[in-house]
Amino acid sequence: MLIPASTDLTGKVCLVTGAAGGIGLSTIEHFEKLGAVVYATDKQKSFSGSAVYKEFDLLDEKKLSSCLDWIAEIKPDVLFNNAAIFDMGSVIDASLVSFDRLFGINVRAFYAIMQAASKSMIAEKKLGSIINVASQAGHRGEALVAHYCATKAAVISYTQSAALALAPYEIRVNAISPGVIDTPMWEQVDSLFAKFENKEIGQKKREVANAVPLGHMGDPKDVARVAVFLASNQSEYITAQTICVDGGNVLR
Ligand SMILES: NC(=O)c1ccc[n+]([C@@H]2O[C@H](COP(=O)([O-])OP(=O)(O)OC[C@H]3O[C@@H](n4cnc5c(N)ncnc54)[C@H](O)[C@@H]3O)[C@@H](O)[C@H]2O)c1
Repeated sequence: MLIPASTDLTGKVCLVTGAAGGIGLSTIEHFEKLGAVVYATDKQKSFSGSAVYKEFDLLDEKKLSSCLDWIAEIKPDVLFNNAAIFDMGSVIDASLVSFDRLFGINVRAFYAIMQAASKSMIAEKKLGSIINVASQAGHRGEALVAHYCATKAAVISYTQSAALALAPYEIRVNAISPGVIDTPMWEQVDSLFAKFENKEIGQKKREVANAVPLGHMGDPKDVARVAVFLASNQSEYITAQTICVDGGNVLR
């Protein structure tokens, strides 16, 4: 018997972190169009979207703690766990300062937010969906990107462990690994590669776009559409997976 699943998110409470960025903002727009009630957070003071917005710098212990309290108030059905930063350096020169910043946001705050959302979903008996944003960088190391790759490998691992722990509560946990997506983060990535690989500004971005099997960088909406799929009942039998949205970059 064919029972069509739906991407309708009417009535679902969705929390999006890294909301002011390229992928976060596009995901919020998609969630809202499908009827979700969206709560958004970022460290930026102002927010251009229409979601209920709160500013929390996730590297600031007090603000992280306030953010966790806020999650308990919101009682989300869906978490899009997306805030992260990028930096470059090899194991020979990448500093512990950079390590602390990258792991502080990409792993520590990421983990604390996932834990708070999980506890709330269990307490409220919600058949929740947690969507963690990993990266193609989490699937293999890169000589010049040691810390960032390691943080994103951690996101993939925590996704699997959380999915298994939360399966008895019918809470699903999946990750999305974007490849190269044209967002504000790429300005910084491109200029760092220009410095580390002695390239012109814009050169790395052109090179990575040309190297994608589908022939171009992704758009934030490419990731947002998969987030919608994972948030909705279209994916109700999928958990513990990491879906690559990368035009064919990662073969697993
Ligand atoms: N753009 C890509 O090519 C790409 C590729 C792979 C993975 N990703 C991942 O996608 C996600 C979204 O990235 P994006 O490309 O939209 O980047 P982005 O820089 O546009 O968005 C990231 C957001 O995180 C926020 N953020 C950073 N530090 C924070 C802090 N201390 N507290 C709170 N918020 C903070 C930023 O303000 C920003 O709005 C990230 O997890 C990133 O690692 C992006």
